[in-house]
Amino acid sequence: MKSPHSQEKTLPIPTPHIEVDRLGIIADTVLMPGDPLRAKYIAENYLENPVQFNSVRNMLGYTGTYKGKKISVMGSGMGMASIGIYSHELYAFYDVKRIIRIGSCGAYSKDLNVYDVLLVDSAWSESSFAKAQGDIDDDVMLATPALNDEIAKVAERLGTKIHRGRIHSSDVFYRKNFKAFETIRDEHDCLAVEMESFALFEYAKVLGKEASCILTVSDSLVSGQVTTSEERQKAFTKMMEIALEMA
Ligand code: HPA
Repeated sequence: MKSPHSQEKTLPIPTPHIEVDRLGIIADTVLMPGDPLRAKYIAENYLENPVQFNSVRNMLGYTGTYKGKKISVMGSGMGMASIGIYSHELYAFYDVKRIIRIGSCGAYSKDLNVYDVLLVDSAWSESSFAKAQGDIDDDVMLATPALNDEIAKVAERLGTKIHRGRIHSSDVFYRKNFKAFETIRDEHDCLAVEMESFALFEYAKVLGKEASCILTVSDSLVSGQVTTSEERQKAFTKMMEIALEMA
């Protein structure tokens, strides 16, 4: 195995985290839920002829077809460090063209209810990820506008109402000062919080790739509402169908 940091032109595959040794196994489009078991569920219930391509660290990945079109689905894990590793390897070493993250978020806005679906236009973060990765000082990273517009069209065709806007990609789930979210929301115009999009969008930007993120609201920091796992599954299905139809 070659070092993934190597400057050689040949691809360092398999990578330390994905055990696929050739191109063509992973599709151009990868759907990325945070939970690898969610990836397994999508593959087994929605894809035709799914074949598992990764089990390293149990970060399950599958390729199959949806309505005849080749597509992959793979877990990202939680947080920017984790999605950063997987998205970089998929984009840079496996020639993946677009990643659509499908995840959950906590609502910062009173206008968002649990189970609502949110298409992320941009992610603000306090994280040093972009600075450390690419010496980029921006604290906002953008989803790919054309891909987002296509996703919005698909949602409209399916009759699924979506919200659009900026979210907070947080470095921390458990904050000492819970109320800090109000300042972040008001100063940075964030509708909701999750922990991955900023890093995904940063890699898409520096590697010339496409990225989008569709989120289901799983809890509200404003109202204290939480979801049951059964209803979460139903709401998740709406989001996933948008992503699959898109692909
Ligand atoms: N914080 C961070 N990420 C999340 C949350 C949250 O409250 N809910 C769902 N993803």
